[in-house]
Amino acid sequence: MGQSMSIFFVIFLLINCVFSWKKDEFRNCNQTPFCKRARSRKPGACSLFATDISVREGDLVAKLIQSEKGVENSENQEHPITSKPLVLTLSIYQDAVLRLKIDEDRSLGPRKKRFEVPDVILPEFLEKRLWLQRVKEEESHDGSGTLSIFYLSDGYEGVIRHDPFEVFVRESGKNGKKVLSLNSNGLFDFEQLKDKKEENEDWEERFRSHTDTRPYGPQSISFDVSFYEADFVYGIPEHATSLALKPTRGPGVEDSEPYRLFNLDVFEYLHDSPFGLYGTIPLMISHGNSRGSSGFFWLTAAEMQIDVLGPGWNDEFSSVLRLPSDQKRIDTFWMTEAGVVDAFFFVGPGPKDVVRQYTGVTGTPALPQLFAIAYHQCRWNYRDEEDVYNVDSKFDEHDIPYDVLWLDIEHTDGKRYFTWDRALFPNPDEMQTKLAAKGRHMVTIVDPHIKRDDSYYIHKEASQKGYYVKDATGKDFDGWCWSGSSSYLDMLNPEIRSWWSGKFSFDNYIGSTPSLHIWNDMNEPSVFNGPEVSMPRDALHYGDVEHRELHNAYGYYFHMATSDGLVKRMEGKERPFVLSRAFFPGSQRYGAVWTGDNTAEWEHLRVSVPMILTLSLTGISFSGADVGGFFGNPDTELLVRWYQLGAYYPFFRGHAHHDTKRREPWLFGERNMELMREAIHVRYMLLPYFYTLFREANTSGIPVARPLWMEYPSDVNTFSNDEAFMVGDALLVQGIYTERAKHVPVYLPGDQSWFDMKTGAAYKGGATHKLEALEDSIPAFQRAGTIIPRKDRFRRSTTQMENDPYTLVIALNSSKAAVGELYVDNGKSFEFQQGAYIHRRFKFWNGKLTSSNLAPLGSGHNKFASECIVERIILLGLSPQPKTALIEPANQKVDIEWGPLLLRGGKSSSVLTIRKPNVRIADDWTIKIS
Ligand code: NOJ
Repeated sequence: MGQSMSIFFVIFLLINCVFSWKKDEFRNCNQTPFCKRARSRKPGACSLFATDISVREGDLVAKLIQSEKGVENSENQEHPITSKPLVLTLSIYQDAVLRLKIDEDRSLGPRKKRFEVPDVILPEFLEKRLWLQRVKEEESHDGSGTLSIFYLSDGYEGVIRHDPFEVFVRESGKNGKKVLSLNSNGLFDFEQLKDKKEENEDWEERFRSHTDTRPYGPQSISFDVSFYEADFVYGIPEHATSLALKPTRGPGVEDSEPYRLFNLDVFEYLHDSPFGLYGTIPLMISHGNSRGSSGFFWLTAAEMQIDVLGPGWNDEFSSVLRLPSDQKRIDTFWMTEAGVVDAFFFVGPGPKDVVRQYTGVTGTPALPQLFAIAYHQCRWNYRDEEDVYNVDSKFDEHDIPYDVLWLDIEHTDGKRYFTWDRALFPNPDEMQTKLAAKGRHMVTIVDPHIKRDDSYYIHKEASQKGYYVKDATGKDFDGWCWSGSSSYLDMLNPEIRSWWSGKFSFDNYIGSTPSLHIWNDMNEPSVFNGPEVSMPRDALHYGDVEHRELHNAYGYYFHMATSDGLVKRMEGKERPFVLSRAFFPGSQRYGAVWTGDNTAEWEHLRVSVPMILTLSLTGISFSGADVGGFFGNPDTELLVRWYQLGAYYPFFRGHAHHDTKRREPWLFGERNMELMREAIHVRYMLLPYFYTLFREANTSGIPVARPLWMEYPSDVNTFSNDEAFMVGDALLVQGIYTERAKHVPVYLPGDQSWFDMKTGAAYKGGATHKLEALEDSIPAFQRAGTIIPRKDRFRRSTTQMENDPYTLVIALNSSKAAVGELYVDNGKSFEFQQGAYIHRRFKFWNGKLTSSNLAPLGSGHNKFASECIVERIILLGLSPQPKTALIEPANQKVDIEWGPLLLRGGKSSSVLTIRKPNVRIADDWTIKIS
């Protein structure tokens, strides 16, 4: 090899080593003992039967006992199934939620209680438990044995088949169709805790150079779950993959890993892989056009692996299984390393019902402050104060709005969080105050690894108080992260969380001001020298909980404590903003999440949509992906397309790795800057609509960004579409995911028209349109029959928009009608919880637009006042051309104008614009056109 050749080769190797997913650092299923064991089980292997079924204090309670046959068979297996009975409890809750718990029988004396995740289920949910009263027995019509049946809700029954045991929900009545079931394929297995009696492989496991002890032996649980009448299943974030989950086992599926749910800091993740990323939500939702949706949620914080089983996966076992042949079904297989069975069955039947049922258990998303849903500018790192001031003023100079400037880890003194590198940031309070004077905010990063440095006050206190997670020998766990040798606070302990939250007070966090908010990163937790870049599974938490039992919830607790800290420092007067990388069920109550370290590639732009939609479906409405891609340098076209799409993400932030070139919007020439500015402007214009949707998510759980099938549940064409999405029920957005695209196909569902957001041109619903791909925007359409509130004046940040007038855009349906809503409050405080808000309903019908109050009258209402007016009303889809517009009852005349909205792509439409009606948004009013 010549010298130049070898240099080339070294560079090639380096590139490959720097820019590729380090697969070998992570375990696959075969290297994960519980997953390997579970996956080798055969359908029908479970021989547990339910006995001693009774009703106790409103729950159905039963014992699960190994049949004689099962005990005999299991003796020949590598891991004999213990024959100690298990305790099964079924409880029912309002809104047709069935909860199933299975645990060891503690009266038989396991020395340790298996971990049940506290602090996730809402206390309000527990109050919705219904008293299960009567259990009737019947012989199943398909000969599968005796069933115990109880009322779940109108239309649904909970059922337990005795032998082998199976739990399911079915529509009421003897031949009622099944909705969801557990253990229909007989894959249930539950490894009980053991005492060490002999030396064998049960007591430790190895991966690469790491050995984890297992003081209680293997303790995994696995079972199958079936979704009936389902065409697709969705959910179980976080993976970079399609929205509709692809089968991972079954005929035609080669060698796929299961979907892994294990919070991990994955360097350079792939854009299509079942590999686990930073967060976990073990909620799967099914959807099909014959019945609708159902959901299954398993609350456990241990590693989980889930197989989606393709049709025909169990054909060779069909004689031993008694599965209904008259119902289509998707089978799935769930495996976890530890914990208990604490599972929830949601019957739907609509997708929005499932989301409501799930967020009824784990909470609806918090309502963010208004600034937090605007545009955020981030980079690792804005170097120093001068850099900050410079970037800030350039936004103004180029007339680009933004609300938040972020500081990554380099702003600290040696990665000691809550400190500042005083050489680079000598006057942090002044810097924040200057930005705040323009109505802008800052965010600083606070990670969970605490530098082991005795002169660092956080470490000093934490180590003195014994607040760190312990290693298996009982010493403070010491791992490597940004700060070098570091320890990790044991956030499971409420006392430690409370201590941590106190660190955000202005007295403690020197240099912080009220406009400063927080970013929690690396909270999976990431440990550079730990197994799989995380904490050893045998590390110990509060109450002797092993890290393996808690792992996926660690970041959740950290997020919770940080968010509580921001609430406390403002004495409950302001809503917190905390972005977290790791997440778990319930994280939606504490703030936003983002999809971590993506790459500046078109495929990563594309996968951001299914990733965000999956989070939306599983309760986390406030999410986004790094605009531009974290790793690598996007070419200009990709960056522009990313801004155009990102403007519709619920969380909209540009961010980049420190090795990348600077990429603030003005660095790419005048035209490209204009395009990025235009994209950001679109977001600012739509903020009243977005905020209204965030409030809807806060009250109902229904997410801001929605898969098309959530709005069109019976349109099969939408079920696997994850290139387009809905923002609320009124806007459909289609990304452009290829370079130099000439055309972009857009499927517009439903039988009503859709109006191009920019031109007002109408397109038919129920068809795929081949649209010209334009440089200046990605396709976005308003659905006929909706009204969108906007604020069209361009300002520096949301603060300056507060008193700006509104524009209402009315898209009429074929009956010449439309409806919409507007929610407004002070955008900051918690007073909305006492009714301090305005909530209006707009309705256009019969030539009249009316605004009426949607807020409940009485307490708190009127506490929030707004003088804002409507300055413009745009009507799309109107004909014939009207002559007048009058505000009733005084019949005060207002100006109208008929003409094209904008010329674009050769198509334009004449629309009616009502100018300066100047009616107040807080008032009731009617405007009549004729
Ligand atoms: C990893 C995060 O994902 C990334 O966004 C951040 O910039 C770096 N950590 C440095 O803090």
